[in-house]
Order: sequence, then structure tokens, then C-alpha cells
Amino acid sequence: MTKLTQEEIIKKLDNRIFQLLTKTADELHRECYLVGGYVRDLFLDRPTNDIDVVVVGSGIEMAESFARKLGKGCSLAVFRNFGTAQVKWKHQEIEFVGARKESYSHDSRKPVVENGTLEDDQNRRDFTINAMAVCLNGDRLGELVDPFDGLWDLEDGLIRTPLDPDITFCDDPLRMMRCIRFATQLNFFIDEETFSALERNAERISIISGERIIDELNKIMMAPTPSKGFVELQRCGLLQIILPELSALDIVETRNGKSHKNNFYHTLEVVDNIAAHSEKLWLRWAALLHDIGKPKSKRWEPAVGWTFHNHNYLGKKMLPSLFRRLKLPMDERLKYVQKLVDLHMRPIIIADDIVTDSAVRRLLFEAGNDIDDLMLLCEADITSKNEVRKRNFLQNFKLVRSKLVDIEEKDRIRQFQPPIDGVEIMQMFGLGPCQEIGYLKNALKDAILDGVIPNEHEAALQFIIEKAAQKGLFPTADAVSSGQT
Ligand code: CTP
Repeated sequence: MTKLTQEEIIKKLDNRIFQLLTKTADELHRECYLVGGYVRDLFLDRPTNDIDVVVVGSGIEMAESFARKLGKGCSLAVFRNFGTAQVKWKHQEIEFVGARKESYSHDSRKPVVENGTLEDDQNRRDFTINAMAVCLNGDRLGELVDPFDGLWDLEDGLIRTPLDPDITFCDDPLRMMRCIRFATQLNFFIDEETFSALERNAERISIISGERIIDELNKIMMAPTPSKGFVELQRCGLLQIILPELSALDIVETRNGKSHKNNFYHTLEVVDNIAAHSEKLWLRWAALLHDIGKPKSKRWEPAVGWTFHNHNYLGKKMLPSLFRRLKLPMDERLKYVQKLVDLHMRPIIIADDIVTDSAVRRLLFEAGNDIDDLMLLCEADITSKNEVRKRNFLQNFKLVRSKLVDIEEKDRIRQFQPPIDGVEIMQMFGLGPCQEIGYLKNALKDAILDGVIPNEHEAALQFIIEKAAQKGLFPTADAVSSGQT
């Protein structure tokens, strides 16, 4: 955090937008303040595009006048029902709102709004670090109004509500998610009283729409260390409500002195490992959900101990209903996460044995263009504390990786297209779609993936003719005379 004097704040605001805001506010004789995230990020030296402006009076009137001054190239949207307006200019969005006194009715998010002072407006904001205001009027330009010591909290790295946290969270339960999201993004602590209120009010998250919750979860997911957020969500009871499948992994069972690992903390380690190597949101989701099939597949087998057979398959099957419930996209992004969850054991199994060309070819075939993400996930999944075992795995992984490159170069399996397709086989034997065609196509695919024949037309043709003959099928006279065979 940087401590800024009033002069330094003025310097940071020295651009056309803020100059025009000052001019507009002074002409209208309105008290006007910069608030919220922009002020917070000014001190944290984080980049921000969204500018929030509070006017003691009408935000809409101020926005209209400001937009006229800005002139061509800006767009104005007025939301009379909410008493707010938004001006867009270049890549910046400037939101205007009149200072309000607001309270929310308890069974919905619909606020009852009255005009208020700057102090009223600051009172109803979510956290002290988001409730600071900087005056934009010419005579007090750059003056910080910080009634809840937000600046101290920025310095201490503390998330704290300005009012009694029960009131702040009750007013808008989404703030519970925001609380954990800011703590994760900024690597801040959550103040004790604020945290207790999270525990007391967690149930109220159920009135918030899935989309808004996911927005926050995605921001937690994209933070440098997402595990921090998920640990807090689990500690306060929110995770049990929004993502019970993940929360259920937080258990260690012991029998005959044998314990299995805590799969919740293991999962978070995997997510952090992935976060250190990739900015891909859906790869992070795949990491978060890769073991959710474990509770359902858990068995105690006296001879071997705890097992989780097929947990990858069960996990994959759980994903569509989980995505639907959370309002996550039901398109190719779901399919991608399903594929990675389903295949996440495969490279480890290969690396645990002799790394054969055939196994690698099949892996490449099933993973297709997502092979690199899958390999990343698998490496991230090796969280064993046994250094020798870990080293061996990583060593064998290197071998799998180099074989992947060799085989792809040779056989082009990633976007596998058989050198002879179903239509050609049907024409060759004068058949329509039938079981035999399916059999021949599959046999051809297996022969290529197992390395019995190369991925080439001539070899495929020979193979098909031989296989068909074994089934009593022979090319038609036409196919022979036209040289198809
Ligand atoms: N705010 C609030 N309660 C909410 C949402 C927002 O009190 N549920 C207030 C906070 O003062 C916040 C400001 O409105 O700083 C702007 O909100 P928003 O743009 O959502 O958040 P930022 O703080 O700007 O942060 P980010 O852009 O990272 O979401």
C-alpha cells in the first residue's frame, strides 16, 4: 500500500475525466465524491477502469451534464428506477449515484431508498476499505473522507465492515462472498467479528442468484492463491451451501490405523499448483472438481485399505447437474471439465508402469487438443509428501511427455481422422450402415492406436480387406475394377 498526501492524490486524478467531473460538480453546486473500488485501488496501486461517483443530490442530473461536457464518443445510460446513470467513454465506465440512505427488506434484495448525506452513503457500503471517498469539488479536491479508518485497514490488510457486520451482510448477503473474494484477491485477513457474522449469516446466501455467486467464485478462482478463499468459504459454512460436493471432501477416515488423505486440502493444493502455471479459468475449475467423485466411490478393502475406484468416472457424471445448479455454462466448457476430470488419472497410471507407445497413443486420442492441459493437471495432482515417489512420477512424466511429442509428430493422433472412413468402407463392400461396418471401423481405429499399422491409407486398406475377409466379406467387383482396392 502507498500512503498518499492530498497533493499526490490530486496528481493521480489529473486527467480529462476528473477535470470535467470537478467542473460539472462545481457548476451545479453539488458536493461530489469519488468512492469505492477506485479509491481503494488508488492506494493499492492496482489498475482500475470503473469510476464510482457519489453526488449529494441527483446522480442522474450530474451524469447528464458531465456527458454533455465530454461530448462526442461517450454514451450515457440512465436508470431512473434506481436513480443511477452510467457514462462510457473509451475503455472507462463512470457510474453516478445520488448519496443514499438505504435499507433492505429482509426477504429480498429490494432496497428501500431515501436521499441522504455522504456519511449515510458510506455507512451502507460493504467494507471499510471500499467506503473511503475522495472529494472532487475544486475547493476540497483530493481530500480523503475516511470515517471508518479504511486506510488503516488497507495498511493492516484487514477486511472489516463499517457497521455491525450482521447488518451489512443481512442487507446484501452477496457481500459475504465479496468479503472472502477481497480477502483472497488482496491476501488480506478477515476481521474476527466480521468472520463470526459470516458464520451466523451463511444461510442467507440462498436468496442470492447463482450468477452473482459464480461471478465471485470465478474471481476467487482467478486469484493468485485460490485456496485461501476456499478455506475461508469452508470455515464459515458458505461452501457447504454453495458447493457441498467440494465441502464433502473435507474428511479423514481412519480404520485399523490406516487413514486416507484429506481430499479437500489435497484438491486446494492442486488448484494452487495449477494457478501457478496457468491463467485458464476452466482448467482451474477442472482442478477444483477433479476429485468430487471420491466420497461416493470410497471403500474400505481390508487387503489394501481405502480405495476410490472409478472416482474419475463418478466425478464426471456429477458435473452436469452441478453446473446446471450453479448456473455454470452447459456448453463445451462443461465438456472440457468433464473430459479432464474423467482422464485425470490416466497419465499417472501410464507413468506408474512401463510407458508404452500404445498407451500414449490412446491417451493422445482421447485427450485430443486438451492433452497439454491434462498433463498440467496431472502433474499438479502429484502432491505426495514422499519426495522419492514424487520424483519418480515426475521423471516418468517427462518420458510420457517426450513420447507424446514423438507420437504426435509421427501419427497425428490429436485430431484423429481414420485414413479410411465409414462411407468408403460401405462402398467397398457394397453395404449400407450395419454392425459389420461399425466393427471394421473400430478394428481399424484400434489397430492404428495400438501401433499395429501406421496411420496411412494404403496400410489401412490392406488391414480392412484382411479383417473383412475373416468375417466373410469381400470387396465388390466395382470396387476392384475401379481400383478402389
Ligand atoms: N458495494 C457494496 N455492496 C455490494 C457491492 C458494491 O457496498 N454488494 C459498494 C462498495 O463500496 C464497492 C462499490 O460499491 O467498492 C463498487 O462496487 P463494485 O464495482 O462491485 O466493486 P469494486 O469495489 O469496484 O471492486 P471490483 O471491481 O473488484 O468488484
